[in-house]
Amino acid sequence: MTDRYAVFGNPIGHSKSPRIHALFAAQTRQDMSYEAILADKDGFAAAVDAFRAIKHGTARGANVTVPFKEEAFRLAARRTPRAEAAGAVNTLSFEAGEILGDNTDGAGLLRDLKHNLGCDPAGRRILLLGAGGAARGVVLPLLLEGPADLLIANRTEETAARLALEFSRLPGCAVGIKPDGIGFGGLAGRSFDLVINATSAGLSGAVLPLPTSVFAPRGIAYEMVYGRETPFMTQARGAGARVADGLGMLVEQAAEAFFVWRGVRPETAPVLAALKGN
Ligand code: ATR
Repeated sequence: MTDRYAVFGNPIGHSKSPRIHALFAAQTRQDMSYEAILADKDGFAAAVDAFRAIKHGTARGANVTVPFKEEAFRLAARRTPRAEAAGAVNTLSFEAGEILGDNTDGAGLLRDLKHNLGCDPAGRRILLLGAGGAARGVVLPLLLEGPADLLIANRTEETAARLALEFSRLPGCAVGIKPDGIGFGGLAGRSFDLVINATSAGLSGAVLPLPTSVFAPRGIAYEMVYGRETPFMTQARGAGARVADGLGMLVEQAAEAFFVWRGVRPETAPVLAALKGN
């Protein structure tokens, strides 16, 4: 009986997850299938139920992407601490009639930074752009690495301030610094070793009003969007920063989900190379 997995989203047509997990499964010789499922905007829970009800094979788990990560959080009967901190779930495990929710996005970002890009956040001055779901998912994992500073900047200043306040109260932060939250206007004259763009501005080609000074010479500029050159990437490159897009994070969060489900950690380098190849 093949173990079955899927990714749920809307839209889902361009998802790379089926290809990534097929490569992981082949590499680690796991007997499993993985498909992309388009769920109606108001039909996520029903789509998960239908997937679990199919009689051939055994539904073991699922990934969840935009716009269902918050709904997946509520659907899960139990959640891991990192999913609780993120307030969102991207990985579901179907266990003995119960749904367990996890979030592998933060782990994926950190693994891409540390293992693929050679950037250890410990002791670095970090600027996180955005205060929506994508930003929220990486705040605690970044804080736990012990950066020198973590500043959250957002178009809407109050949202950044609220997010920073929320994470400055967590016990994990007792070991390190408390994040601050500001509007983009407060960035003038400030400089960071690592700038992470977790806004969705790049998806629409919108330009963020960033002073070029935020990119320290030889610093890293990380764009969570992948598959296109965003204005953020162009600006950072012009400022002399090393630029990375979110493809590595996509593959690494998938590898972490695969590990959660299968107990085997796949090699990500060949998969990343295959995706970059076309
Ligand atoms: P996601 O789950 O991708 O984070 P989201 O929760 O809707 O999506 O959050 C989108 C983030 O991108 C927010 O931080 C948003 O800023 P606001 O809080 O001010 O809305 C940011 N964002 C989206 N478009 C932007 C733009 N054109 N310029 C600056 N920030 C933008």
